[in-house]
Amino acid sequence: MILVTGGAGFIGSNFILDWCRSSDEQVINIDKLTYAGNLMNLSSLKDSPQHKFFNVEIGNSNQVSKILKKYKPRAVINFAAESHVDRSIHGPRDFIYTNIIGTYELLEAVNSYWANLQDSQKADFKFMHISTDEVYGSLLPEDSSFTEKNQYKPNSPYSASKASSDHLVRAFNKTYQLPTITTNCSNNYGPFQFPEKLIPLTINNIIHNKKIPVYGDGMQVRDWLYVNDHCDALRLILSDGSIGEIYNIGGLNEKTNIDVITMICNKMDDIQFKKDIPSINLIQHVKDRAGHDTRYSIDISKVSKTLDWKPKETFESGIDKTIKWYLDNQNWVDSVSTGEYVKWMKKNYSELL
Ligand code: NAD
Ligand code: DAU
Repeated sequence: MILVTGGAGFIGSNFILDWCRSSDEQVINIDKLTYAGNLMNLSSLKDSPQHKFFNVEIGNSNQVSKILKKYKPRAVINFAAESHVDRSIHGPRDFIYTNIIGTYELLEAVNSYWANLQDSQKADFKFMHISTDEVYGSLLPEDSSFTEKNQYKPNSPYSASKASSDHLVRAFNKTYQLPTITTNCSNNYGPFQFPEKLIPLTINNIIHNKKIPVYGDGMQVRDWLYVNDHCDALRLILSDGSIGEIYNIGGLNEKTNIDVITMICNKMDDIQFKKDIPSINLIQHVKDRAGHDTRYSIDISKVSKTLDWKPKETFESGIDKTIKWYLDNQNWVDSVSTGEYVKWMKKNYSELL
């Protein structure tokens, strides 16, 4: 059995769905169900004995300890976080609370659970912490991609809170020998991403003929990683990665924001046979994000040399799948962005409300 935190969010739910497709092993999912956590993502597992959900926050070490003691997972994978940079700029408190204090409380609960395991279970246990390339700061166009040896230089309250959580994970490994692994990945995209992030926001705004806000000149670069490629890498690292190590995971897909948006506009015009007004006319340059990082780029040498992993999707193939998913799942987008999700929860999970 494994335990996942934040498994009702974008990457966590994709990870659980992938896990249940590729293994029979049970998954315990603990999630606070913030605005970004939606059990609808996992509705295909509603009646599956392989997935068990608890509406618990990672900062509640008493409840987390009870769950650990009862289910005895062989691994904990920590996805739970506040994850949106813009929200962290407008109000950092929740980020400090969940990403720093929450991670600390989770580490305390996991460490005391692990310390009391029998020797054989203790030797097999792993705590995997999911972090971000944003902890390394921002690159200039001529800079080399981020390696695991890059200095931490976080620029937003979000990335500073993730950097703090990474340091706490490292400290629990060095001080208490808790068997930890940290992964730092680039921008994910794919199904079930909350429509406040660039790619789903662009797709959704085109569908609804709304303006597409481009921060500043739109020349900032992100390294796009299809979420299922990320999940494949995480499963591999969990099984074969080395304790105490850090692994960078990237998509080998560096693109400017304006190129990403233009590509989505053109593809959606082709799919929807929209000939009257091209979707690129919806692009609107707006005030830049404060402290906006200009470029992220991940060097995947370590994970590819030591574990033989590389991403399968090109940006072209990944974005086609993503656009199709959002077009086919407009009800999901509408539900998570209106009160419909709450009604759905009342009907399906009234015991959690
Ligand atoms: P998300 O915002 O979609 O989901 C986060 C999940 O965590 C939600 O289900 C939410 O309810 C849950 N959560 C929040 N606070 C919690 C708490 N205190 N206790 C328990 N659950 C809580 O995020 P995501 O995009 O799926 O990101 C998952 C992880 O990956 C995060 O740690 C994030 O920092 C990291 N990451 C994300 C990306 C990306 O592009 N999305 C890239 C790099 C790293
Ligand atoms: O690099 C990994 C990080 O990627 C993760 O750690 C974060 O959790 C995740 O949210 C993401 O952060 P970004 O800030 O890079 O993602 P976002 O989708 O918010 O923005 C991507 C780029 O697009 C960024 O340069 C800001 C820009 N942008 C974003 C939005 C929402 C716009 O120009 N307009 C927008 O409306």
